[in-house]
Amino acid sequence: MKIVVIGGSGLIGSKLVTNLREHGHDPVAASPNSGVNTITGEGLAEALNGASVVVDVSNSPSWEDAAVLNFFETSTRNLLKYEASAGVGHHVALSVVGTERLLESGYFRAKIAQENLIKSSSIPYSIVRATQFFEFVKGIADISTVGNKVRLPHAFIQPMAADDVASALGRIATAAPVNGTVEIGGPEKFRLNELVRRGLAARNDPREVVADLQARYYGAALSENTLVPGDGAQLGETRFEDWLRQPVTVAARVGSAKA
Ligand SMILES: NC(=O)c1ccc[n+]([C@@H]2O[C@H](COP(=O)([O-])OP(=O)(O)OC[C@H]3O[C@@H](n4cnc5c(N)ncnc54)[C@H](OP(=O)(O)O)[C@@H]3O)[C@@H](O)[C@H]2O)c1
Repeated sequence: MKIVVIGGSGLIGSKLVTNLREHGHDPVAASPNSGVNTITGEGLAEALNGASVVVDVSNSPSWEDAAVLNFFETSTRNLLKYEASAGVGHHVALSVVGTERLLESGYFRAKIAQENLIKSSSIPYSIVRATQFFEFVKGIADISTVGNKVRLPHAFIQPMAADDVASALGRIATAAPVNGTVEIGGPEKFRLNELVRRGLAARNDPREVVADLQARYYGAALSENTLVPGDGAQLGETRFEDWLRQPVTVAARVGSAKA
């Protein structure tokens, strides 16, 4: 089965391409690096020719409010149009758990716009909402740093390994479209400030993490369960502490410490 992975060079996309190939499918990694651009339409018709499924795991190069909205709207409109012409039978997109509770943030307004375009199109679809990736913990710290302190709400978070995101996407992409939303998450809940404190400690990052009730998450206020998936969520198996000890994670930390 030919499966086109839009954003196939990215964190999740590259893992998904490997996962699909290991399961005997024929994935095509498509992104500007390989001549496929969902904003301009370049290379899209050729990439989608003969494809049964398209999985969109692309992300906007800019997260500025107007830019990210323009990215997800333009990209999704183009993709759905080209998919209709190519006779694609399943559009899968990666979104974020709690998106509708985070609309104070421009990034999440853009993700809702992406989801709404998919829901109103004629292409059968599966929207997969994931919780935050373990790999993203340092990014959360960086955007929440004021001076040498990381200020974060005390809300719950149930993060997951990017490998588990890719496995779940692989299963969903090769099954029948659900024409709805599936939630995926990690096996454990943490307090957001505690998760980031552990993640930074493992990197020997000296920043102090403080719980701050007024702190925002990408511009949005959090309540206790804003980032937590519902009861029916499919949960990955990888635990954060085990992931931190994996040789590949340690190697990445050493690499970025040198950079
Ligand atoms: N971060 C989290 O914790 C989290 C949680 C849940 C869901 N998500 C969602 O997961 C998705 C993937 O995230 P990620 O971290 O894997 O992304 P990433 O590593 O930043 O990769 C982004 C991908 O998008 C591609 N891309 C950029 N512009 C494009 C264009 N015009 N046309 C086609 N492809 C384009 C890039 O291609 P090039 O390499 O060629 O530039 C790259 O392959 C996002 O939609 C995000 O909302 C993230």
